[in-house]
This record gives sequence, structure tokens and C-alpha cells, in this order.
Amino acid sequence: MTQPPTKRVHLNAFDMTCVGHQSPGLWRHPEDQSHRYDDIRYWTELAQLLERGRFDSLFIADVLGVYDVYRDGPETALREGTQVPVGDPLLAVAAMGAVTEHLGFGVTVSLTYEKPYAFARRMATLDHYTNGRVGWNVVTSYLESAARNLGLERQIRHDQRYELAEEFMEVVYKLWEGSWEDGALVADREAGVFTDPAKVHPIEHHGEFYDVPGISLTAPSPQRTPVIFQAGASPRGLDFAARHGEAVFTTATTPEVVRPWVDDLRARTAAAGRDPRSVKVLTLMTVVTAPTDEEARAKYEEYARYVSHDGALALYGGWSGLDLSTYPPDEPLRYVETDAVQSAVAAFSSADPDRDWTPRDIASWVGIGGMGAVVVGSPQTVADEMERWVARGDVDGFNLAYAITPGTFVDLVDLVVPELQRRGLVPRDYEGETLRENIYGRGQVRLRDDHPGAAHRRVPTASGAAAAAPAAAASALSGVPA
Ligand SMILES: Cc1cc2nc3c(=O)[nH]c(=O)nc-3n(C[C@H](O)[C@H](O)[C@H](O)COP(=O)(O)O)c2cc1C
Repeated sequence: MTQPPTKRVHLNAFDMTCVGHQSPGLWRHPEDQSHRYDDIRYWTELAQLLERGRFDSLFIADVLGVYDVYRDGPETALREGTQVPVGDPLLAVAAMGAVTEHLGFGVTVSLTYEKPYAFARRMATLDHYTNGRVGWNVVTSYLESAARNLGLERQIRHDQRYELAEEFMEVVYKLWEGSWEDGALVADREAGVFTDPAKVHPIEHHGEFYDVPGISLTAPSPQRTPVIFQAGASPRGLDFAARHGEAVFTTATTPEVVRPWVDDLRARTAAAGRDPRSVKVLTLMTVVTAPTDEEARAKYEEYARYVSHDGALALYGGWSGLDLSTYPPDEPLRYVETDAVQSAVAAFSSADPDRDWTPRDIASWVGIGGMGAVVVGSPQTVADEMERWVARGDVDGFNLAYAITPGTFVDLVDLVVPELQRRGLVPRDYEGETLRENIYGRGQVRLRDDHPGAAHRRVPTASGAAAAAPAAAASALSGVPA
């Protein structure tokens, strides 16, 4: 018998503007349509499908460089279609927003290569267009090839990127939360006043990396701050995720491996003054399902025939910073510190004391679903496995990658979601209108009060003039106008 539901399970779809996103080589499968990544109808159809399946959000990954670590050049990535060619992740969101009403969109943008002032306007515009359904996956980038082409000689060092990130967040929170008071935009035709200038405030930010003295160029969007997604995994990254993340992505091979990481994240979240349960942890998973376990297994075997090991190692080279073509294929990997994604090295070296991983193992694991878990089975088997991850790993939901697209998502929507709904784990209807409500429930459109961005809110005074931020919050800030 199935246990009574204890927890709402969040579903997020994972895609990227490229072929074979987390499943290198599977773009060759006859049913795969990832080659349509540059066809806007691929995105609008996918959004409608996911909304039919009551997914909370679609998350679009992004990199601004090519995977050229493996074999010391871009040739493998180009030949295999390993996240190159890659398009801009933001542009399809407006179109997807126009054909859906509830689905949220988590968009990856690397703050390392953005100016916060213009970026804040771009995200606010999308939040307006989608009626409050935009999230931002805050990343700092991991590819040297991106740095070289975006004005740097080499990547900013791993931990320094997070220092830059902290200040970037402060600037955009000030723009989104603190510059315009609610009610500033009056659009009073009689009086001829569109915006009440007394209610719009310069943010006067003068910091180590950014100087932004002026006002936000956009009026507050429904959510003001987009939902903050994050995936920091190193000690420094975890602190950042604990401070800012509302939904945090992770990747692990088993629920037992993810659990200490989740415990650590929740402890750091509490230490940052936030409710540790307000950070929703979504773990990477790829589901291969069919009506029976046997059919699902056969489907998996068929997909596995299309995996490209070279493509997988090119992907892994970009993530980890390690060129495994120079490693003995059958010797276990040992942890080394790199300037790329440190947890990508840890995942296959130090994370699981019970398992060694050789380059050959890594190539086959990454081949379907990247570094995340792959679950193969009937809808009941898949739902059981998801419940196991929730119970043992203390995760809040799943970041679902595809083996083939949209086939994997069609199977999830038609087979697995109804089973999750039967178990009371996924609601039959959306609870609110905005992405933040998909995550926290109806009514929570804006940042929770315990989120650091909320400290930048202005409190309108009775006379209509804005007061300084509340004393407790103000003490945590620098550069907030009094
Ligand atoms: C599921 C998942 C998706 C990610 N997507 C992206 C992405 O699209 N672009 C990116 O630059 N980094 C991405 N990352 C990497 C993270 O931004 C981050 O660098 C990584 O989790 C390691 O954290 P660390 O920098 O603290 O070591 C992703 C990580 C995970 C777990």
C-alpha cells in the first residue's frame, strides 16, 4: 500500500537551447526533436505540454562558452553537438509566456558577464510579460572559453566569483525591491501624471565592483524580484545558495549521497536567518518510463545505443575542468581542486565513500541524464523511486532532464504525473498565478520576509514619502539610502 502523502513534490523540466542537452549523442535518435531548439514552436509546444502536466517550471540552462577542455579543443564538442551550437535562453520565454498561464520559467544568466542595471530591466520586463512567472538561475560561469571571449584573460577565480555575485545581488535587489514604491505608477490621465516622482528613489549603490546611483528603469513587476534559482555546491557556493536561493538545484547519484549535502544547505540557510524549509531542493533526474517495467527497460536499452562517450567526456570536461582523455580509462578518479564546477569533480571522487569512478564509468553515467540519477520503470516504479529520494534525500522535488525531447516529457506528463497526482504528491490544479506561488503556495507572490532581498524594500510612510528600510534590515546593508 502507498503511504499517505507527506510532502508536495515539485516538478521542474530541464532543457537548454541546444541538442541533446544532458544526453550526449541522443540527438541521433529518430524520435528526438532537440534539433528544433532554434524553432520557437518547439518551445511553445513544450511549454504547453509541461503546463498540461502541472509542472511548476521549465528551467533553461546556459553557457557562454564552448566545451573545449576535452582533448584540448572544441572539435569534439562541435562534432558531437555537445551544448554547441547554443542559443540565448531568454528569448523564447516571452513566446512561451504568451501561450501558457501558470508554468514558470527559470532562466540561466551568468552575472559574471552582465551589468546589473541593464540585466535588472531585462528580467523585470519578462516578469511583466509573463504576469510574474520568471525565475533566474544565478550562475557565475565555469568555462575558461567564456571568459576569454568576454573580455577577461582568464576566469575570475572560483571563490572570487561569489564575492562579485554577492554585490551583484545587492544591486539588483535594490533596483527591484527598493527603487520604486508600490503605487508610484499612477497613470492619472486627469492630472497628467504617469509616475509620482516622490515615490521613485535612486539606489545610490557605490560598491567594490559596481556603481549604480540611479533609479530602476522599470516599474515593479508582479514578483518584483524573480524567483531565485541557484546551484552552488562548493562550500562557498553553498553559502551563496543558502542566502539567496529559493529553489536550489543539485545533482547526485543516490539519495544517500545527496542527504548530507541537503542537511548542510538547510543548516546554512537557518544560519542565514531563513526558514530552512523555504529553500526547495530539486535534484537532477532523468526518467525513462513506459506502462510496464519491462517496456521501460527495453526503451532504456534502446536509448543507450545512441549515447556518445566522447560527447559525455566533452561535457564532463567543461563541467569539471578535467581532460579525462589524458587519464588512464580504468583508474579511479581522485579529487583535485579546479576553477570549474568543483562538485562535478567531487561527485565522482569524494562524494560517495562506497564507490570508485573511472573515466570509463563516468562516460557511461553521464551519457544519459548528465551527472544526475536515471530512473527506469513503470509509472509506479518511478513514483516509488521519487518518494524514496524525498524520504531519504530530503529533497523537495526533481529537475527532470530528457533522454529524448519531447518524448521524455510526454512520458512524464502522460504516465508519471497522473500516478504522482493519485498519490497526492502533485496537485491537480495550479495553486496561484505566479512562479513564486507555484513554489510557496497561493499568496506568496513576492519574496518571503526572511529572504535577504526583502531587506531592501521601502516602507511607505503615511504622507506617501518613503521611509528608510526597517532598522533591522538596514543594518545588514551598505549603501541603502536613508
Ligand atoms: C542541475 C544544475 C544545473 C546547472 N546549470 C548551470 C547552467 O545552466 N549554467 C552554468 O553556468 N552553471 C550551471 N550549473 C552549475 C552551477 O552554477 C554551479 O557552478 C555548480 O553547481 C557548482 O557550484 P560551485 O560553483 O559552488 O562549485 C548547474 C548546476 C546544476 C547542479
